[in-house]
Amino acid sequence: MSYIVAKDLVKHYGRGESAVEAVRGMSFQISAGEFVAIMGESGAGKSTVLSIMGAMNAPTSGEYIVDDINIYELKREQRADFRREFLGFIFQSFHLMPYLTVAENVMLPLAIVKVSRKEKVAMAQDALAWVGLADKANRLPSQISGGEKERVAIARAIVNEPPVLMADEPTGNLDTKTSGDVMDLLLKLNGDGMTIVMVTHSHKCAGHAGRILHITDGRLQEVLN
Ligand SMILES: Nc1ncnc2c1ncn2[C@@H]1O[C@H](COP(=O)(O)OP(=O)(O)O)[C@@H](O)[C@H]1O
Ligand SMILES: [Mg+2]
Repeated sequence: MSYIVAKDLVKHYGRGESAVEAVRGMSFQISAGEFVAIMGESGAGKSTVLSIMGAMNAPTSGEYIVDDINIYELKREQRADFRREFLGFIFQSFHLMPYLTVAENVMLPLAIVKVSRKEKVAMAQDALAWVGLADKANRLPSQISGGEKERVAIARAIVNEPPVLMADEPTGNLDTKTSGDVMDLLLKLNGDGMTIVMVTHSHKCAGHAGRILHITDGRLQEVLN
């Protein structure tokens, strides 16, 4: 049974003459536990479809269903709850808060989770240990390397153990060795049962996924690997 179902997704930005058709009718299904890579040229619509899948960007038309929940029929607050509970998201440029420490950044998704501060600190510390950054918890983002920032972003995405992780070019700004380390972490999470959807430009990274979706001009090119 498919865990994630996208039906005829369309996304237009703007209206009239200046309208951009970023996604032009995409349908696909993803099973629980899959690792799917999304590839395509710059401007093909990868980030747009990932943000729709991340419950952050309503499609112009079409349906998006996760675990039998029709995401864009939810009220805004319910959708925010869904996002917090079900999805970890790694943005293209980390999106770390510069004035918060590494540990505080990792704790952000727990802000309104009903557990004690002490427990939140422990959860953040566990996530940081898991990505190998236990000793950097009290640094500021400006005091760690690019690869470490990426690992902080992963720790933040998994701190509340969501079933699905989405990553937009997680290795885009990293050297080969560091991006290999990041891929190893993602593969380990997938091995533990997490469903992963990753946008990437790297054929090498995409090769680790179970399936590749190729996007050209807002359309799915092929679904076969
Ligand atoms: N917020 C936005 N407003 C207007 N146009 C956008 C916006 N986001 C993306 N686009 C446009 O939509 C198209 C697809 O963009 P995007 O999904 O970011 O592609 P990719 O991630 O594959 O590079 C591009 O033409 C881009 O300029
Ligand atoms: Mg993009």
